[in-house]
Amino acid sequence: RLTMEPSKEFMFKYKGFYFGVNTSVEHVASLENFEIKDSDIFIATYPKSGTVWTQNILSLILHEGHRNGTEDMELMDRIPWLEYNIKNKDFASLPLPRVFATHLPYYLLPRDLRNKRGRIIYITRNPKDVVVSYYHFSKYMNIVEEAPDFNTCMERFLAGKVLASSWFDHVAGWYGHAEDFNILFLTYEDMKKDLRSAVLKICNFLGKKLSEEEIESIVRQATFENMKKDPRANYENLPDDIADKKKGRFLRKGTVGDWKNMMTVAQSERFDEVLNEKIKTLPIKITWDI
Ligand code: A3P
Repeated sequence: RLTMEPSKEFMFKYKGFYFGVNTSVEHVASLENFEIKDSDIFIATYPKSGTVWTQNILSLILHEGHRNGTEDMELMDRIPWLEYNIKNKDFASLPLPRVFATHLPYYLLPRDLRNKRGRIIYITRNPKDVVVSYYHFSKYMNIVEEAPDFNTCMERFLAGKVLASSWFDHVAGWYGHAEDFNILFLTYEDMKKDLRSAVLKICNFLGKKLSEEEIESIVRQATFENMKKDPRANYENLPDDIADKKKGRFLRKGTVGDWKNMMTVAQSERFDEVLNEKIKTLPIKITWDI
């Protein structure tokens, strides 16, 4: 099957994992020894699984449902990317608790994290919705390689030739080493079904006690409809050469099961064929629709 090799213009491979070119081998390699503080919190995901959603929820939880001025901050300033330190921040001097987002696979994580320092929230989303979301994302994110059509995008995804490489390996690595971390596993679909429960789970995990009103306020602000109106959640301030706002929006659809609108029956079967082979060893249950 034709997958077409990804172009070096957009990604590079380090230890078998695809990174976007807006980071460097030096930075990524240095993360192994990155010093973790016990209060650090990480949101870890495979791309398009609800990272920005969880970044917003976490921001709100840490500010007790208010924004305390953070509404004027870009998401990247509130919760920077660990492996894409685009603004060259001095991570060591960030206010505590530090919160980072990451797409790193298990085997490239800072050693301290794998020794149970810090806390991690790992979000998964059903991989058919992930690839559909990725396809749309690549159309307007000029820094992500756009496949000529959905089928090519899907084949690249199944072959792990996309940002963050193979979905299967990513999920298997994290779930397979769950015992090594202080970790909370959540799914996009569970968040969609019952956002309030997801917020409560995160609060419990972080030992954060909030009032009923604060919880309500967080849930209200973190709905798709409300976040869709927030320019910062949509990365609207990114320059056009990075994100072409005429071609799409970051908060696109926010539903479970959109893959049914995109995949043909043959494509879905082809996906299942690869998935069923790889998923045998994965201790997760995938929710395709709600
Ligand atoms: P869609 O493209 O299916 O709409 P990430 O942040 O990991 O890149 O994930 C992006 C996906 O999460 C997009 O999916 C986006 O719309 C969705 N998303 C973001 N905020 C959301 C929210 N509040 N509720 C539901 N989905 C949300």
